[in-house]
Amino acid sequence: MSEQSGPTLQDQFAATNGDHKSLWEALWDDGTYLPWDRGQSSPSLVDLLNDHPSLITPSSSSPSQQLTSLVPGCGRGYDVLLFASHGLKSYGLEISSSAVTAARQNAKTSGLKPELYNFLTGDFFTDNWEAEESNTEIPREFDVVYDYTFLCALDPSQGLREKWADRMAGLVRKGGVLICLEFPLYKDLELPGPPWPLREGVYRGLLENVGFVREMYVTPKRYLGSGEGSDMVSVWRRQ
Ligand SMILES: C[S@@+](CC[C@H](N)C(=O)[O-])C[C@H]1O[C@@H](n2cnc3c(N)ncnc32)[C@H](O)[C@@H]1O
Repeated sequence: MSEQSGPTLQDQFAATNGDHKSLWEALWDDGTYLPWDRGQSSPSLVDLLNDHPSLITPSSSSPSQQLTSLVPGCGRGYDVLLFASHGLKSYGLEISSSAVTAARQNAKTSGLKPELYNFLTGDFFTDNWEAEESNTEIPREFDVVYDYTFLCALDPSQGLREKWADRMAGLVRKGGVLICLEFPLYKDLELPGPPWPLREGVYRGLLENVGFVREMYVTPKRYLGSGEGSDMVSVWRRQ
């Protein structure tokens, strides 16, 4: 995590005219203040995948099929590489091209086969995503989508939570799963973001409304960062 002596993330977002995408890009372009970057995947996700391998295993009817995963707002891509390390064809999406560059650099040091991961530049809310190679075929639906520190990075006063849920319903294939590491559940609802505070009922209301059924609700064995003792993992199956 980087140190900051100037305005906090919340101050900087409050000072915009609502154009948060440009601020995310500016933060990544500057690269000196990325307080959300923990340098690794959350052990809560690591444990979930190890303890529940069926979530990321092809069905017995097509055992040789390679599953796909997507991490929206992937930052440096630690979680993308975690899914890739389990053999999924893994995609990370970032609004910031500087973040994508950083993720590609980071991936090179992972030792994973490059065909297992792909970092895309684009806006989660549009279909206009770009890969490094222009002829890359980008899936429009995924078997597994993971959200951590992405929903909470979207300003609820801009109506983005409902749009997030609608978009997730379009991106997770029928029968696929959305895994949410729910954060920050501890944060006072009156406090400004990012991260904007969330609650279990907010995830449930949003996702049940667009055809997801919660299949698992897990108290993590291990945590990373300020969600320690309060984060929860939810797994949502698209009907
Ligand atoms: C709080 S950061 C979390 C990054 C990463 N998940 C991590 O834990 O290190 C949120 C990320 O979402 C990205 N982002 C914000 N809005 C986006 C959008 N509409 N589409 C794609 N990425 C977006 C930002 O650039 C930022 O890197």
